[in-house]
Amino acid sequence: MIIIDSPQQLIKVLAKMPRPLCLVPTMGALHEGHIALIRKARQAVGECGTVIVSIFVNPIQFDKEDDLAKYPRALESDVVICEKAGAEIIFTPEVVTMYESDSSITISENRLSTLLCGASRPGHFNGVCTVVMKLFMLSRADIAIFGKKDFQQLAVIKRMVRNLNIPIEIIGHETIREHDGLAMSSRNTRLTQDHRTDSSIIYRSLNAAAELLKLGERISEPILLAARKYLLGSQYVKIDYLEIVDAENLERVAIIRKPSILAVAVFYDNVRLIDHVELKP
Ligand code: PAF
Repeated sequence: MIIIDSPQQLIKVLAKMPRPLCLVPTMGALHEGHIALIRKARQAVGECGTVIVSIFVNPIQFDKEDDLAKYPRALESDVVICEKAGAEIIFTPEVVTMYESDSSITISENRLSTLLCGASRPGHFNGVCTVVMKLFMLSRADIAIFGKKDFQQLAVIKRMVRNLNIPIEIIGHETIREHDGLAMSSRNTRLTQDHRTDSSIIYRSLNAAAELLKLGERISEPILLAARKYLLGSQYVKIDYLEIVDAENLERVAIIRKPSILAVAVFYDNVRLIDHVELKP
């Protein structure tokens, strides 16, 4: 396992590594969800290719200082996990080497990032795009893997790649869930025991509402109402948003005619969790 913290060193080392090269961008505190991404990366490049995992808690994608400060960090165990899952290289830069003091150029996305999570997290997706673009440029990866759990992030990155003609293939990986259905996230460790037990209601509520579609309902409103009612069964959950959106452009849909997404963001105190299910009419 090669661990690199300098961008210049990364460029030098990667120039000698066998291709294809697959990048798995992460912010560390790795869990089963990340392991699945790294295994997928290995599968994508085969035994002879190279898998690189970046571990970088990107400050410019956090809109709240407290959230950044509390973001879990676990580099030692992350290294073990990456090695076991089949990565060859870990890139774990310092903030000062990723963002020079005169940094004044960033990527900005102006439509998808105004919706859903973007509406309550101003600047978040621009921060994501900027760091992901830097990781793409530094690694010159042929492929990059992202979890579908962050479906809005995946949509923004796919659009960035398409709009800016970046020569990289983006692969989305299915959401990995806990035994009770909660989508795996590094934030889950910040839930209290009561909140963690309660949190399975998120995925149950989405599935219960999605059942209506299977029964023939095509109007978004009753489906949203069913999900909201189910979530209100929790004494802890505070809904940030609950929406049905087009799977590609993420705009709200009133009638489900095309593949869509029932998406939710909730708060347990100050821990914000997101989840979604696909709606295929
Ligand atoms: O999904 C994440 O962990 C982050 O948003 C990413 C893609 C690594 C960029 O910092």
